[in-house]
Amino acid sequence: MKSSTKARAAENERLDRVELARGNPSGRLVVVSNRVPLPTKDGTSSAGGLAVALEGALKQQGGLWFGWSGRTVDRAENMPHIVEAGNITFAVLDVLKKDFDLFYTGFANRVLWPICHYRLDLLQIDRSQTEGYFRVNRTFAEALAPLLNADDTIWIHDYHFIPLAAELRRLGCRNRIGFFLHIPWPPSDVASALPSYERLLNGLASYDVVGFHTPQDAENFRQCLMRERIGFPVGNGEYQVDSHRFKIGSFPVGIETDAFAQTAASAERNPVVRRMRASMGNRDLIIGVDRLDYSKGIKQRIEAFACCVRSNPELRNRVVYLQVTPKSRSDVPEYKKMQHEIAEQAGWTNGNLGEVDWTPIRYLNKTIGHTQLAGLYRMARVGLVTPLRDGMNLVAKEFVASQDPDDPGVLVLSRFAGAMHELDAALLVNPYDTEATAAAIARAVEMPIEERKERWNALMIRLRSNGIDNWCRSFLTALCDDLPAVPEGDRGGSGRPRNRVAHAPG
Ligand code: F6P
Repeated sequence: MKSSTKARAAENERLDRVELARGNPSGRLVVVSNRVPLPTKDGTSSAGGLAVALEGALKQQGGLWFGWSGRTVDRAENMPHIVEAGNITFAVLDVLKKDFDLFYTGFANRVLWPICHYRLDLLQIDRSQTEGYFRVNRTFAEALAPLLNADDTIWIHDYHFIPLAAELRRLGCRNRIGFFLHIPWPPSDVASALPSYERLLNGLASYDVVGFHTPQDAENFRQCLMRERIGFPVGNGEYQVDSHRFKIGSFPVGIETDAFAQTAASAERNPVVRRMRASMGNRDLIIGVDRLDYSKGIKQRIEAFACCVRSNPELRNRVVYLQVTPKSRSDVPEYKKMQHEIAEQAGWTNGNLGEVDWTPIRYLNKTIGHTQLAGLYRMARVGLVTPLRDGMNLVAKEFVASQDPDDPGVLVLSRFAGAMHELDAALLVNPYDTEATAAAIARAVEMPIEERKERWNALMIRLRSNGIDNWCRSFLTALCDDLPAVPEGDRGGSGRPRNRVAHAPG
């Protein structure tokens, strides 16, 4: 094919895809996230709890789900692939391999992730990664902008896409755009270690709603803006930068509580769950389930478990601790290193504590299916959710929802998990304090049935009052509510130049 014919064919292909993605319906919801749960070939969805909720919201009003295709390529065509499933259109973009390494492995997971989890010691600053992060965001904005209708509401998710709204505004997009951060936001003394800190803050200030899991994260963010003299609070959870007024709020994510409880109850018949039960004898199960991540406090938890058994010899051969830890982000050096360290620590602890007929820790470095997990949670006497820092932690909520109301297990929860703000009827621990966490584990194993029921009932009230649908609804209501117009003369200000990215004139 001649090159001009080839170029024309490519342009026609692009226009076809744009038309397909824009669709007809008015008032669509557009969700943007790095990972996109594309429907499988048989038309089913691969989505987990949170993604199911977003899919539900998309189905209600018709919509577009935009993000990364899951593929890296040597030559990107910058044209999204389109998959249609009912009234939802999925549009996903391949990313250049070298850009993805800078954007995801680099800036997202070696800069934003450690800093947002208060780990200044793990921060790796590299200018090319910073540039790669902003460049990929620009590429995503350029691919998304042509797919948008003027009345679409856009909901952008997580730390991968902080600058996306600013990039879309630069391209003339005047739609309502909301952002929800799925991880914590630290106080300004920690956050200010971020490279391009002001640019990131200004990026966030380009949204109409910026949402966090907890009031503490929202307050930290507000303080960051104020310390940098970017705009000022105007009351009622609103904030103003130049003439742009936006909302900062907390929207704690929930789970499908009753559906999860039903899955757990019926999972008692699951073959894997039955095998596990048979292998336990009369011992009590203590369970921990976390992605392999330094923020989860797995190392400290294993130490606390060992300390618990050492200081409570009556628990020897009476408890088994199952730690399920699927691998994650193995291309990031800190994660690769941790994979060896935790496996070694679990083996070493078993070698020291174990007996011929008792392996105290069963460590699985792989994923376990949703139903089997629910069944294992229900079987467990104790759930250990002890991150050093976590945005929310849905395992804590799923563990509670899975329990048998007549014989509920006990949740031992870190005071540094976002879930702590709602689940304060759990046994709260400081995961850095090994002996205190060990004592809490022993207390949980021995807790009388009345106290277990009382605590569990209190936790379930909290879960039921804030399900996953509630999270979607409250965020979208905040995003779609009218913000009061700001009179020109009423801008206040710090006296310092504000470098917020300007909205493109429309
Ligand atoms: O907790 C933040 C988060 O991005 C989740 O949304 C996601 O499920 C998890 O981390 C896994 O991250 P990744 O996409 O890097 O595997």
